[in-house]
Amino acid sequence: MEEMVAATFEATLERSKKIEEDLPVHPELYRVLTGDRPTGRLHIGHLFGSIGNRVKLQNLGVTTYIVIADYQVLTDRDTFSSISENIKGLTLDYLSAGIDPSKGKTFIFPHSHVPELNQLLLPFLTLVTNAELNRNPTVKEEIAAAGLKRINAGMYTYPVHQAADILFCKGNVVPVGKDQLPHLELTRLIARRFNERFAANKAVFPEPQALLSKSPMILGLDGSQKMSKSRNNAIMMSATEDETAALIKKAKTDSERVITFDPVNRPEVSNLIMLISLSTGKEPEAIAAEIGDAGSGKLKSLVTDSLNGYLRPIRAKRAELEKNPDYIRQVLLSGVESARAEATKTLDEVRTVMNMKI
Ligand code: TRP
Repeated sequence: MEEMVAATFEATLERSKKIEEDLPVHPELYRVLTGDRPTGRLHIGHLFGSIGNRVKLQNLGVTTYIVIADYQVLTDRDTFSSISENIKGLTLDYLSAGIDPSKGKTFIFPHSHVPELNQLLLPFLTLVTNAELNRNPTVKEEIAAAGLKRINAGMYTYPVHQAADILFCKGNVVPVGKDQLPHLELTRLIARRFNERFAANKAVFPEPQALLSKSPMILGLDGSQKMSKSRNNAIMMSATEDETAALIKKAKTDSERVITFDPVNRPEVSNLIMLISLSTGKEPEAIAAEIGDAGSGKLKSLVTDSLNGYLRPIRAKRAELEKNPDYIRQVLLSGVESARAEATKTLDEVRTVMNMKI
């Protein structure tokens, strides 16, 4: 895990590229598992990154399970009062961005509602050592970032729970950012050890592969490395057009008048150009050339117009769906039903190979 040395990363990247090429050719071979914690609304970094990729996979006809990891919220924060609201908000964000469970290929469910999935956690916990859990770099970073003094055991074991999230439906592709790779390595280890220990003749679990799609890195409006709600530098998908305009007006730029696309030396300006590019499909260099010496005022007004234009139908759809809480609930309930059907089959196989049938 920590030894995700360059060679391992290169191998992961190679496999990821192969899968990316094969997905449009053989969508039926893949079962994608992705997920989010219900900690708040999604911002445009999510939309242009992970959510956009999910919509693309869906439109290729790939079966996708989207787990809302509500138990994982309890690992690094005390508050639980808004979990239910956040589950619904997240679902609204997914649906308005184009995730469409009515096509029968995408399932959205909170894992707390799938007991058979959660039960896989118990045998999985016996397949890893404390030492392995203790050295997970992403867990360490999260502990540091949250400034935790008392660290609950869920913090160290949630990556094992995540293995259950992925393996309950025999997911074989997991679209991930780099920070999630240690968790995916652990899932692969658990699948391998489970098969070796209990299912030597016929593997029960696949070893899922990472899909490291190149989603553009969206910086925060303050120029910091990552757009994130907690850093107060994000534009939420569900923000109003006026709120969006006000945030962009305050965005950091630099003192050079002529606009150029130069991510290394001019990260803030280039990030804004990138947002125009993602919203309009135009090349960043062409956008920069068009603005030229009209400066950052012109740049910002273009970002505002193109981003609001891009988000308009998404926001309208969200507003429409918001009026229909029964539908949102129905989406989640039918996601839960499908997930439970899969998890029940898997748990039955697990019990069989573990000699636990009665
Ligand atoms: N840990 C992930 C995050 O913090 C969320 C998650 C939970 C997840 N289970 C998953 C992601 C399974 C991918 C697959 O964002």
